[in-house]
Parts: sequence; C-alpha cells; structure tokens
Amino acid sequence: MHIIPGTGTRNPLTTQVNDMTQDQLKQAVGQAAADYIRPKLEKDSIIGVGTGSTANCFIDALADLRHDFAGAVASSEASAERLRGHGIEVYDLNQIGQMEFYIDGADEINAQLEMIKGGGAALTREKIVAAVAKTFICVADASKQVTLLGEFPLPVEVIPMARSYVARELVKLGGDPVYRDGVVTDNGNQILDVFNLRIDDPRGLESRINQIVGVVTNGLFAQRPADLLLLGTEQGVQQIQR
Ligand code: 5RP
Repeated sequence: MHIIPGTGTRNPLTTQVNDMTQDQLKQAVGQAAADYIRPKLEKDSIIGVGTGSTANCFIDALADLRHDFAGAVASSEASAERLRGHGIEVYDLNQIGQMEFYIDGADEINAQLEMIKGGGAALTREKIVAAVAKTFICVADASKQVTLLGEFPLPVEVIPMARSYVARELVKLGGDPVYRDGVVTDNGNQILDVFNLRIDDPRGLESRINQIVGVVTNGLFAQRPADLLLLGTEQGVQQIQR
C-alpha cells in the first residue's frame, strides 16, 4: 500500500486533507482514478464506467481526458447519460473486444478487495462490464472499508415473477430479504436487499445465491474482486493492490 501525496492540480479539493467531507473524498478518488489511467490511455481505448455517486466523480474527472481515448461502456443508463453529457462516446459492450480498465465504486470492500455492490441497483451490468475488463479499479471513501462484508444489505436482482420464491430461499440461507419497493433495474427486474447475512465465505455465498432459480445475479463481487482500490482518506488517497 502507498499513499498518493497531494494529487491533481485541477481539482483543489484533492489537495485538502483535513476535515474532508465524504463528497470531497469521493471527488479525490474520482480524480485519482483519472490520474492513474491517464498515462496508460491510447486513442482507441475503451473505458468501463460504473454507477453511483463515486463513479460520477470519476466520470466528471474523465471529461478532461475525453480527447485521449475512444469512448466508454457504461454499467447503467444513468452513467451513459452523464458520459454523453461530457461529450464522451458510449459504446454497446457487444461492440467491444477488449477493455483495459473498469472503474466503479462499492458499498463495502474488504482486505481481499471483495465487495458488496448494487446499492444503486446496477449490479448486473456492473458485474458484466467488470468481467470484460482486465483491471478493476474500485474508487471508495474510507467509510466503505470493512473487515467482514455484510453489514450493508446484499442486493439481489431477481426476475419479477420469482421474487417471493427467491425471498423464501434467501431466508433458508439465514438472510432477511426486503423488497426494494418501486425500483426497477435497467434490465426490467426487481431488487431484494438481504439483511443479516453472515458473509464469512464471500465466494461460496456468491455462487450459492446465483444458483437460486430466478436470481439474475447478486451484489457480491468476490469471484471477480477489484484489482486496485483507490481509497479516499483524510491523509490522502491510498493505493491498495490485491
Ligand atoms: C451501484 C453500485 C455503487 O458502486 C455503490 O452503490 C456505491 O455507490 P456510491 O459511490 O454512490 O456510494 O454498486 O449499483
């Protein structure tokens, strides 16, 4: 692990290290991710872009680099719209053969860089884009770092007609699923948030939940964890490698 001292001159917030708000930490890691990939970009590079408030900070920082790469693949309609708003071309993943970087936030991340994601209901597309990318860079403020995953309720995307069945199966696994009322994912599905799971085997639980018929995917990113964490702290942005 090492600390990136005094990052970025374009965003004055990244140089302020004391009493930073969570929003300022998110901006600092968004800028740090753009700074990290900048020297590695090529004119034909396609960047995978995640979803959420921290990913939004990255998108905003990426805008300055828009002439240095070809475009992006987004993990949600919301991120696609924000990218286009900055003049960044958005590609369909099916058009893309390879992708060096995927940059996204997390709801929780542990020391193995395994994560819970899906607080913004974009987990399935996030998992798909992350699977294609060679390097997954997680951008997160220090509040997201945990020893044991599971205090944040685990999002599970379900086919609507299977919701009650899947909920009963999740209870058998020891969880307390709650329907995220009114939320429809970009894929037309629903979300169950599972409280009180004991996640001491993230990889095993990820497989087990995905095997329940009617589950599209769950928000455990353990089989494909992040490769690099850019963690926003009061002392600066820490780089934590897997
Ligand atoms: C969206 C996600 C986000 O990455 C996660 O919810 C973190 O969001 P934020 O950066 O707003 O805290 O998985 O589905």
